[in-house]
Amino acid sequence: MEKEQQYNRFQELDKTAELGGGADKLQKIHDAGRMSARERIAMLLDKGTFVELDKFVTHRCSNFGMEKTKIAGDGIVSGYGKVDGRQVFVYAYDFTAYGGTLSKTNAAKIVKVQTLALKNGAPVIALNDSGGARIQEGVDSLAGYASIFYQNTMASGVIPQLSAILGPCAGGACYSPALTDFIFMVKEKSHMFVTGPDVVKTVTHEEVDKEELGGAYTHNSKSGVAHFLGNTEEETLMSIRELLSFLPSNNMEDAPIKPVNDDINREVDTLDEVVPSDPNIPYDIKDIIEPVVDDQYFFEVMPHFAKNIVVGFARMAGQSVGIVANQPAYLAGVLDIDASDKAARFIRFCDCFNIPLVTFEDVPGFLPGCGQEHAGIIRHGAKIVYAYAEATVPKVTLITRKAYGGAYIVMSSKETGGDINLAYPTAEIAVMGAEGAVNILYRKADEAAKKQAMEEYKEKFSNPYRAAEAGYIDEIILPRQTRRKLIQALDMAKNKSHSNPPKKHGNMPL
Ligand code: HXC
Repeated sequence: MEKEQQYNRFQELDKTAELGGGADKLQKIHDAGRMSARERIAMLLDKGTFVELDKFVTHRCSNFGMEKTKIAGDGIVSGYGKVDGRQVFVYAYDFTAYGGTLSKTNAAKIVKVQTLALKNGAPVIALNDSGGARIQEGVDSLAGYASIFYQNTMASGVIPQLSAILGPCAGGACYSPALTDFIFMVKEKSHMFVTGPDVVKTVTHEEVDKEELGGAYTHNSKSGVAHFLGNTEEETLMSIRELLSFLPSNNMEDAPIKPVNDDINREVDTLDEVVPSDPNIPYDIKDIIEPVVDDQYFFEVMPHFAKNIVVGFARMAGQSVGIVANQPAYLAGVLDIDASDKAARFIRFCDCFNIPLVTFEDVPGFLPGCGQEHAGIIRHGAKIVYAYAEATVPKVTLITRKAYGGAYIVMSSKETGGDINLAYPTAEIAVMGAEGAVNILYRKADEAAKKQAMEEYKEKFSNPYRAAEAGYIDEIILPRQTRRKLIQALDMAKNKSHSNPPKKHGNMPL
């Protein structure tokens, strides 16, 4: 064969491969308002940077006549490229080819990309849109999933792993995203469930549609499985890029520093007014977070789930920080099971990837009641203290108001390893609030005696000074100074070198 013919042949095969399952299947996808795997990758990555691997891989299955239908790429588009000029690895399920189902062969493509990412210290992004295990391949498909899960687990804490769910994601297929660090879902387009509505109806007699069972809002607000809710695929892909801008490429690096024009000494006078004098009046903790971070920009994670705790990324003096904050505007900022899980997982992510933690604390305690106790608030609440205590990144805590009892201790207190612990003059650092304390100590006293005891308790304990006298608080600051004080503390701790005792791994309460 002439060279020119060889080149032409290659170009034709390449063109056919680019069409995945074919033009009509692509059209069907577009008609449904969805993008193809290649379009998604092109939108996610910097223009023209995608390098596709294994484009001509086909399956080797001969069950149910499969040997007659071979599609180049086998339902996965995978490779590497750049986001903001930084290396990433990516794979996308191609729904036009066998419904993006998983075969032994395309699982190997995914594992190849995962392995390359791990070896080369760069994030992996998975764009999910799949009918699940390819039924014709039987147990080989299941083994394929297992090999992906294994790589997910090995890569955990070494490179960031992000998953977007852009279509169906059912059965055991949900567990690869679940093993990754962050899950992005799109309104009305993505669904995740271990068993679909039909099986649910058969087994439990519940009637539920797929949106209610496992849609984007369900997993963002109720289950806590997903971390981000996008209105469109495009918005979701842009959120992935944004999240990556806060992260290092791997656990041996620091997150990139973003040059900043925002004055690090900027005082915010309005902050002096945010915390109400009456401890029973709520306020929005984001009214403290936003004004003090660079360019007043806070990238919130899981904004719809366990709103009593706020977590997310921001920058201070150009450096990425992970923010964890009690939210007095929701359930008074109480710690419950969901808030504990949300915070602990976020804290551990930041610690894996060398992102300092800034904690804003205003917490009245753990949520009481049978519901919480029987569902294991002890076990779940222990996760926060475990996560903070084992975290070796710089940890700076600011108590804005209530810091009561066990909830005070777990929120990165000095004795659990806080590097710098600050408090506003409005802070109340005590075993509990005045009313609760008096009701225990003066249970049988008359109202007048109780009132007097309450005043005495408030005077003695509802302030930051007992803690400051004991050295549990390093510095009391005025709210308007918050930005400068946090940045000074982070700067002081930037070369922190601290390791926990050597161990295989700890035994975190799960
Ligand atoms: C083989 C499959 C398939 C599957 C879909 N297809 N699912 N082929 N194995 N699991 C094929 C269809 O035959 C069709 O092929 C093409 O993909 C597109 O599917 P449609 O049904 O036409 O598309 P749509 O109407 O959009 O519905 C998509 C769907 C539905 C919701 C995903 O296909 C579906 O419910 N599929 C079954 C899902 C499922 O139960 N999977 C197994 C889960 S258990 P043609 O040739 O017509 O284009 C599992 C175990 C994993 O995954 C365990 C891991 C540990």
